[in-house]
Amino acid sequence: MSRKKELCRFSISMEPELSERLDKMIADKGMSSRSQAVAKMVQASFVEHESQIGNHEIAGTVTLVYDHHKRNIQSKLTTIQHDYGNLVISAMHIHLNHNNCMEVLAVRGEADIIRKFADRLISVKGIIHGCLTVTATETDSQNQ
Ligand code: NI
Repeated sequence: MSRKKELCRFSISMEPELSERLDKMIADKGMSSRSQAVAKMVQASFVEHESQIGNHEIAGTVTLVYDHHKRNIQSKLTTIQHDYGNLVISAMHIHLNHNNCMEVLAVRGEADIIRKFADRLISVKGIIHGCLTVTATETDSQNQ
């Protein structure tokens, strides 16, 4: 999809402090313009919004950190993953230190179901940190 797209031009007003911070971030990240930065933010916010609703397909990762000495925690996590067997494309287990393990699950499926799956895992007792990161699979607008 490399067709040249027409751009829509509009102006944005914001507090000077916010605008200065934006310019600093643009410089830090080596972005080419405010337009590019704002377009990226809008895109990211669509992805986040779409990740939370609907039955369209998304892909992402669920990251879980837990103390493996906590009673039954691994079997609880495994049971949930089997309940949603076809969502998990790949799983990685890292022994972070003596106590803690990190699990990273790559997932793909309907947004609503992935959200539910991640919520169930993250709310297991003993999870120290858990988060769901998503990316859309159906958008091509990031490649401009
Ligand atoms: Ni481990």
